[in-house]
Amino acid sequence: MGHDAFMELFGSMVGVFQGKIYFLFLAGVCSGLKVTVPSHTVHGIRGQALYLPVHYGFHTPASDIQIIWLFERPHTTPKYLLSSVNKSVVPDMEYRHKFTMMPPNASLLINPLQFTDEGNYIVKVNIQGNGTLSASQKIQVTVDDPVIKPLVQTRPASGAIEHVGNMTLMCQVEGGTRLVYQWLKNGRPVYTSSTYSFSPQNNTLHIAPVTKEDIGNYSCLVKNPISEMESDIIMPTIFYGPYGLQVNSDKGLKVGEVFTVDLGEAILFDCSADSYPPNTYSWIRRTDNTTYVIKHGPRLEVTSEKVAQKTADYMCCAYNNITGRRDETRFTVIITSVGLEKLAQKGKSLSPLASITGISLFLIMSMCLLYLWKKYQPCKVFKQKLENRPETEYRKAQTFSGHEDALDDFGIYEFVAFPEASGVPRMPSRSLPASDGISGQGLHSTIYEVIQHIPAQQQDHPE
Ligand SMILES: *[C@@H]1O[C@H](CO)[C@@H](O)[C@H](O)[C@H]1NC(C)=O
Ligand SMILES: *[C@@H]1O[C@H](CO)[C@@H](O)[C@H](O)[C@H]1NC(C)=O
Ligand SMILES: *[C@@H]1O[C@H](CO)[C@@H](O)[C@H](O)[C@H]1NC(C)=O
Ligand SMILES: *[C@@H]1O[C@H](CO)[C@@H](O)[C@H](O)[C@H]1NC(C)=O
Ligand SMILES: *[C@@H]1O[C@H](CO)[C@@H](O)[C@H](O)[C@H]1NC(C)=O
Ligand SMILES: *[C@@H]1O[C@H](CO)[C@@H](O)[C@H](O)[C@H]1NC(C)=O
Ligand SMILES: *[C@@H]1O[C@H](CO)[C@@H](O)[C@H](O)[C@H]1NC(C)=O
Ligand SMILES: *[C@@H]1O[C@H](CO)[C@@H](O)[C@H](O)[C@H]1NC(C)=O
Repeated sequence: MGHDAFMELFGSMVGVFQGKIYFLFLAGVCSGLKVTVPSHTVHGIRGQALYLPVHYGFHTPASDIQIIWLFERPHTTPKYLLSSVNKSVVPDMEYRHKFTMMPPNASLLINPLQFTDEGNYIVKVNIQGNGTLSASQKIQVTVDDPVIKPLVQTRPASGAIEHVGNMTLMCQVEGGTRLVYQWLKNGRPVYTSSTYSFSPQNNTLHIAPVTKEDIGNYSCLVKNPISEMESDIIMPTIFYGPYGLQVNSDKGLKVGEVFTVDLGEAILFDCSADSYPPNTYSWIRRTDNTTYVIKHGPRLEVTSEKVAQKTADYMCCAYNNITGRRDETRFTVIITSVGLEKLAQKGKSLSPLASITGISLFLIMSMCLLYLWKKYQPCKVFKQKLENRPETEYRKAQTFSGHEDALDDFGIYEFVAFPEASGVPRMPSRSLPASDGISGQGLHSTIYEVIQHIPAQQQDHPE
C-alpha cells in the first residue's frame, strides 16, 4: 500500500507542524489528487470572519468535482456543513448564513466566528473521471478573545526593606481567553529561584525576601493564541543601604583615608553612599576620646585655619532612616604648608639616592676641574719655586682628603685659595701619619680652605 506509506510520511511532517494535536486522515492522497492546507491549526478571533484556505490539484480528466465540509467537536459526531458539485453549493440550511464556499475554490469562510465554532473542520474532495479519486484534510480551529493590556500591582505598594520584607507582584487582565502569563525583568524572563516563586497560573510573582538586586523594571507579558500584551513597566520600591560609603574632596591629595590640604586653603568634602531612600549624613569631629557632630548634610567645608593642630580626625556617618542601617568612615586631614608640599613633590621626582649621586658627581667634577686648573695654570707661576723642593713634599701637598667615609663628605664645598705671597700662616708642623695629612713643613704650594656646607636636614613628610 504505497498510499499508506505516503500518508504516514505526510502525517509526520504535519505532526511536526502542529505539535500535540492528533489528526485523523479520513482519506489519503491519491496519485492523481492532492489536497493541501497551509496550516492544520487556525486561530480565530471571536466575532470576526475566519477563512480556512484549502488547495487541491489533480492530473486526470474530470467530469465532476465534489467538495464536502464537515465539522466535528471532540466526543460528538461530525456535522455536515455544506458541499458542492462543480459550481453549485448545497449548504446545510441551519448554517447557511455562517459558512460560505465559492467552488471550484474549496476554501471555507466562517463568519462570524463564535466560541461554539471551535473544533475540527474536515474537507473532502472527490474527482469523478476514469473512476473516483478522493482526498481530505482536517483543520483545527480555536476561537479566542484578544488579550487586554495587563495591569500589575505590587503588594506592599509602599515598598519592602531588603532582606526583611517580601513583595508580591500581581498581574491582572480584564479580558482575553487562554491566557499565559510571563514575568519579565528588564525585558528578560524571570525564572523560579530561591527567592522567586510563581502562582500556579504564573499571574503572581512572589519575591521573598527582597534584595537590592531585585530592583529593576518588571512587566507582565500575557499571551494567547491570537494576541499578546505587556503591562507597563513597574519598579518595585525596595529600601536598601547604605552601601559603599565614601568621602571625597574637591582638591588636595588623598592617600588612603588621609587628605592633605595646603595651609590657607579650604577643602570641600563630599560624603556619598548608595542607599534608598537617600541617606542622612552627619559629620563628626574626633578629638582624643570625644566626638561631636559638627554638621548634617552630604557636604563639609574645612578651612585649614579651623584645624588648630596639623592634623584632625573626622568621621562621616550615613544613616538610612527606613532600613535603620548606618555606616561610617573615618578620615584624617593634614595641613601642609605650600613650600613643604612642593619639596615633597620634588622629593618624589628626585629620589634621595639620585640627589646624592648628583651632588657627588658635581663634587668630583669640580675637583677634577680644580685639579686641572691647579696643574696647568698656576704651575707656570709656581714652577720655579717648586723646582727646589723634594718630590715627596710636592706629592703630599696635593693630598687633601684623608678619611674614607664618603657620606661624611656630603655637602657643598667651597674652596678658598690663600695666595702664597700674603701673610697666611703656614700650617703647623705636626707629626701626622705618613699616609694621611699634610705636612706643612716648608710647604710653599697654594693652600685651600675647604668649607663644607651641609644643607639643613630635610624633614620627613607624611605621604
Ligand atoms: C460538471 O461539469 C462537467 C463539465 O465541466 C459536466 O460534464 C458535468 O455534467 C457537470 N456535473 C454536474 C452535476 O453538473
Ligand atoms: C479562494 O478564494 C479566496 C478568496 O475567497 C482567495 O483568496 C484564494 O486565493 C482562492 N483560492 C484559489 C485556489 O483560487
Ligand atoms: C481508465 O483507467 C483504467 C484502469 O484504471 C485504464 O486502463 C484506462 O486506460 C483509463 N482510461 C483513461 C481514458 O484514462
Ligand atoms: C516573607 O516570606 C517568608 C517566606 O515566604 C516568610 O517566612 C516571612 O514571614 C515573610 N515576611 C514578611 C514580612 O511577610
Ligand atoms: C528601567 O526603565 C527606565 C525608564 O523607564 C530606564 O531609564 C532604566 O534604564 C531601566 N532600567 C533597566 C535596568 O533597564
Ligand atoms: C509558569 O512559568 C514557567 C516558567 O517561568 C513555566 O515553565 C510554566 O509552564 C508556567 N506555568 C503556566 C501555568 O503557565
Ligand atoms: C581615652 O580613653 C581611654 C580609656 O577609654 C583612656 O585610657 C585614655 O587615657 C583616654 N585618653 C585621653 C586622651 O583622654
Ligand atoms: C527619612 O529621611 C528623609 C530624608 O532623607 C526624610 O525626608 C524623611 O522624612 C525621613 N523619614 C523618617 C521616618 O524619619
